[in-house]
Amino acid sequence: MRNELLIPMQAKPFLKWAGGKTQLINDIEKALPHDFRQQNYTYVEPFVGSGAVLFWILQNYPNIQHAIINDINADLINAYRIIAKQPNELIEVLQQLEHEFHALVNQPEQKKEYYYEKRTAFNSRSTDLATQAGLFIFLNRTCFNGLFRVNKNNAFNVPMGDYKKPTICDAPNLLAVSELLQRVEILNGDYQATLDHVNGDALFYFDPPYKPLSKTSSFNSYAKEEFDDNEQIRLRDFCQQLDQLNHKWILSNSDVRGKDPNDDFFDDLYQAFTISRVHATRMINANADKRGKLTELLITNQPKKDYLPVIKMNIDMFTKFDKPYWVFKEKVNVDDIKIDKSLMSFDNPILNSTLNNIKYYFDEVFWLPITVNKDFYLLDGQHRLTAAKQMNLKYIDVVIQNTELLENNEDTKITKKSKKFIL
Ligand SMILES: C[S@@+](CC[C@H](N)C(=O)[O-])C[C@H]1O[C@@H](n2cnc3c(N)ncnc32)[C@H](O)[C@@H]1O
Repeated sequence: MRNELLIPMQAKPFLKWAGGKTQLINDIEKALPHDFRQQNYTYVEPFVGSGAVLFWILQNYPNIQHAIINDINADLINAYRIIAKQPNELIEVLQQLEHEFHALVNQPEQKKEYYYEKRTAFNSRSTDLATQAGLFIFLNRTCFNGLFRVNKNNAFNVPMGDYKKPTICDAPNLLAVSELLQRVEILNGDYQATLDHVNGDALFYFDPPYKPLSKTSSFNSYAKEEFDDNEQIRLRDFCQQLDQLNHKWILSNSDVRGKDPNDDFFDDLYQAFTISRVHATRMINANADKRGKLTELLITNQPKKDYLPVIKMNIDMFTKFDKPYWVFKEKVNVDDIKIDKSLMSFDNPILNSTLNNIKYYFDEVFWLPITVNKDFYLLDGQHRLTAAKQMNLKYIDVVIQNTELLENNEDTKITKKSKKFIL
């Protein structure tokens, strides 16, 4: 088979991995530094796992030329390195494993035997590295729930899963991933060592093993080493160090307070930083009612936006806008913001997200039409006029740039000196 003829596609995680982050991507996007698309950040993901956020970043922010990934799991990192350097050898190994495994679809005993034979081969860790990566992906695709669990001797001990003909070799995806990984430095070790590889401005995204919500939901052993409360504290200390070095970071973790209102573990640890609670639908609860209501934490070291940065009297910084816009002259406390969707009769998908999410958007380049209180509104550059009219606003106290454009607009009655914008 000539793999090089396959057309590259959107790259996605090549593994099933506990704690996959696909669901949180919208929230993570909102927590990115506002200049992330313009500046040349190094993106660092020290607990990369299956890399859902990595692949999303690399494909959506082509300006990011250099990324660093790391995980303590050596088998996982070997798979990343082989995909980066020898994708075709890996694909050959996987095609053979898939062919042999699928051929046993109607022979359950032989199929099981085959699985355990491959598990033993993997645990011997004596095959060449491309075969080792192939066995790792094979086990991930065929074992129970895609779990990765090892015993004290680092032997993978998950039993076979109940899949008929699982995809074992997704060649187009492996090739797409391989291409993306050409921009990525791949490390294996403790997360702290990533800092030694960073030059210039960096954004770190941390997705450590979550603090378990209860003793029985302890799914956080991805490797031999435990990630206990002391480890969570060590990670906070590392985040503090990065903050002092002026690097930016975003961190996710479980919201232990959601389970026990008195559990302030993370609220205390990260009190100097910005903590948001975001909704996550997790499949860890068999009871559908409880399943949808979990929140998770998204914490960043970007300044807490107590007040919206709307007092921008220095108009020069806004000249990049070619259309008129206005801003509030007063400080508005973020906690006073209420979204009154009944006033919004136009379609703005962002308004369908939560208030929490919307707060992330308040920076100087992106303002939304939002009711601040019953008299005040904030309007963004694109929707301002239509929005204001549809909301039946009488006037807005404004700072007007580019009055020429406003004056030429038939819909507005405004005098050059007026600070009131009359609709
Ligand atoms: C929650 S998972 C990351 C999930 C990932 N974001 C995804 O989308 O699949 C946590 C990862 O941290 C790794 N890990 C645990 N302790 C570590 C340490 N001290 N340093 C680096 N990685 C570690 C585990 O092997 C695991 O892959």
